[in-house]
Amino acid sequence: MRALERVRDGMRRDQVFGFMMPRGRPTLDTSHSIVLYIEQLNVSFDGFKAINDLNLYVDAGELRCIIGPNGAGKTTMMDIITGKTRPDSGQVWFGQSMDLLEMDEPQIANAGVGRKFQRPTVFEALTVFENLELSMAGPRGTWRAFRASLIDEQLDTISSVLKTIGLESSTKQLAGQLSHGQKQWLEIGMLLMQKPKLLLVDEPVAGMTHQEMERTGELLKKLAGEHTVVVVEHDMDFVRSIANKVTVLHQGSVLAEGTMDQVQNNAEVRRVYLGE
Ligand SMILES: Nc1ncnc2c1ncn2[C@@H]1O[C@H](COP(=O)(O)OP(=O)(O)O)[C@@H](O)[C@H]1O
Ligand SMILES: [Mg+2]
Repeated sequence: MRALERVRDGMRRDQVFGFMMPRGRPTLDTSHSIVLYIEQLNVSFDGFKAINDLNLYVDAGELRCIIGPNGAGKTTMMDIITGKTRPDSGQVWFGQSMDLLEMDEPQIANAGVGRKFQRPTVFEALTVFENLELSMAGPRGTWRAFRASLIDEQLDTISSVLKTIGLESSTKQLAGQLSHGQKQWLEIGMLLMQKPKLLLVDEPVAGMTHQEMERTGELLKKLAGEHTVVVVEHDMDFVRSIANKVTVLHQGSVLAEGTMDQVQNNAEVRRVYLGE
């Protein structure tokens, strides 16, 4: 094994964060590996229950779609997972050893939870390559000083991410010149540079052309497996095109869960979500 790989193995994220190992673990079902475990979660804003006894379990490698009407609590749920919002009660675990409620935002990000916001936030004045280079896992800000020594392994990572997001032929293009869809893919690429285990993606196809939507669907499907992907999306056709398991949120808790067909035929879902 190459020395670098050995070092990296020794720095597995859950081990790095071993000091955060909890005292009392939840009684997890270990028959399959759950990457995200949310139980009895509650948060109120000025007395309004935005998250209400929410339970959600996402398996390793899943591509889970979360749908639900405006105000259902989807963004709030992501805010809690990423440490931006503190819940009033409940549990949120990443894997079986990391209690996310004990960690702050940078710690959660470093542990391997990547979040893609709705608006792309790429550096428009930099090239596609430079955007990816800047996002590389590792100590931030040091890369410029050591640019000459950007090692083969890092270059390999960049080119494999470029291939994944389909921007190999735009390496030298300024990010500001990319189409809206390409910017979104670049931002997903920037997240991938951090080698996240769990990717949270909020409304990835808003504002995209039909063709861009199709490519985004393919990208997200490709990422699942190696990563666990949780997608919040309003566009039903898009969800149908990528969905395996769908969770419907309503008033801060899970209203229904299953295949797209199952949830679309669920009477409760039709009543509250589809307005029937
Ligand atoms: N920081 C906040 N302060 C007060 N109310 C909030 C805050 N964040 C969300 N809410 C409220 O919580 C509810 C859920 O919002 P949100 O999670 O954004 O829903 P969704 O993303 O499903 O549309 C909404 O009624 C929203 O107004
Ligand atoms: Mg939202």
